[in-house]
Amino acid sequence: MSDGLTYDTLILGAGAAGLMCAAHAGGRVLVVDHAKAPGEKIRISGGGRCNFTNMYADPEAFLSGNPHFCKSALKRYTQWDFIDLVQRHGIPWHEKTLGQLFCDRSAKDIIRMLLDEMEAAGAELWLRTEIGEVSHGPDGFRVTLDREGRRLEVTARTLVLATGGKSIPKMGATGLAYRLAEQFGLKVTETRPALVPLTFGEEAGFKPLAGVATPARVSAGGAGFEEALLFTHRGLSGPAVLQASSYWREGQPITVDLAPGGALFDTLKARRATDGRKAMATVLADLLPARLAADLAKRHGLTCNLADMSDAALRDLAGALTAWELKPAGSEGYRTAEVTLGGIDTAGLDSRTMEAKAVPGLHAIGEALDVTGWLGGYNFQWAWSSGWAAGTAI
Ligand code: FDA
Repeated sequence: MSDGLTYDTLILGAGAAGLMCAAHAGGRVLVVDHAKAPGEKIRISGGGRCNFTNMYADPEAFLSGNPHFCKSALKRYTQWDFIDLVQRHGIPWHEKTLGQLFCDRSAKDIIRMLLDEMEAAGAELWLRTEIGEVSHGPDGFRVTLDREGRRLEVTARTLVLATGGKSIPKMGATGLAYRLAEQFGLKVTETRPALVPLTFGEEAGFKPLAGVATPARVSAGGAGFEEALLFTHRGLSGPAVLQASSYWREGQPITVDLAPGGALFDTLKARRATDGRKAMATVLADLLPARLAADLAKRHGLTCNLADMSDAALRDLAGALTAWELKPAGSEGYRTAEVTLGGIDTAGLDSRTMEAKAVPGLHAIGEALDVTGWLGGYNFQWAWSSGWAAGTAI
């Protein structure tokens, strides 16, 4: 084999985590990816502006079989470190809401920054490269690659699995990291689509509400999120539902509170004293989007005026609107899920270096791991922190 095909480190996947790792790994580094451009998910993220981190990126915002695993990397490479990097590259940014930081111009600024960092570190990038067989011998890892029709074999002392999860196969997600992890004896926990819209059958009657958005608190599996809720043709979406979807399981209900804050009964009672002659549908339309108010009035048979509602009836109505229990039929699946929940079991990895405990030289980073963040820049922060932890340890 020619000398040129021996590297110190081979990184599989030129996404957020792989590029970050390449920027910090010393020695001869090669990054390979089957896509025609690096960081494709960065490019489309945050509506094209990339929600690149969150000011409140604490371990509590991550789901994992071992909630302690992410702590070390998040503590050693923080959101403030990434913000500092972004500033050093002169990339303008702003906070949108809830600590979510976005580029002012374009997500392409983040990709350019990572490529500049990677190039400054001397790492090579091969795109349109298919990954074939991977084996491990005394001289390190041997990986067969198909680069634009040419079959090549690369040997590297260190191999980094950074090919992400299963979400959005159309964008090149393959689940390769899970297969390779299992090949090397690492466990992979059950994977499922997360940060994903939930679907409902016809009987839910959501179709006429498609397009209606309202602030709500949506809860599932013991976690609740107060953000926007959006009715769609197929069910429910919006940040509050995407967040709750990570905690929802098939067959379980979700609970929707359409008046978060807990004062709906008091509000309705107070309004009865001044607006008693108003129809209930009109009263609800003062508190909720008109189409939703009319729909709810119909669902609850509210044809009367506010004055006709007793305290008990108002209390029942407030209860129904603040604890609306709904059973999703399913989710939109990996086709639209922002991330994959579950993945390479962290029990087999060192939390400081992301290295497999039983396979020296094998590292796994980013979404491929059983570490999944909330919506709002947390998943990129995990990609940066875990990529940095592996890169600096290599
Ligand atoms: P990532 O998926 O980024 O990279 C994996 C790379 O491996 C890809 O380049 C892929 O082509 C390559 N690859 C996969 N299989 C391969 C194979 N078999 N052979 C060769 N290469 C292969 N997060 C956030 O924090 N803020 C946000 O604004 C958003 N927005 C957002 C929008 C949308 C539409 C999606 C789908 C996701 C987000 N996310 C997000 C989530 C975020 O994009 C995600 O968590 C990170 O990109 C994960 O980074 P990784 O590097 O681990 O995987």
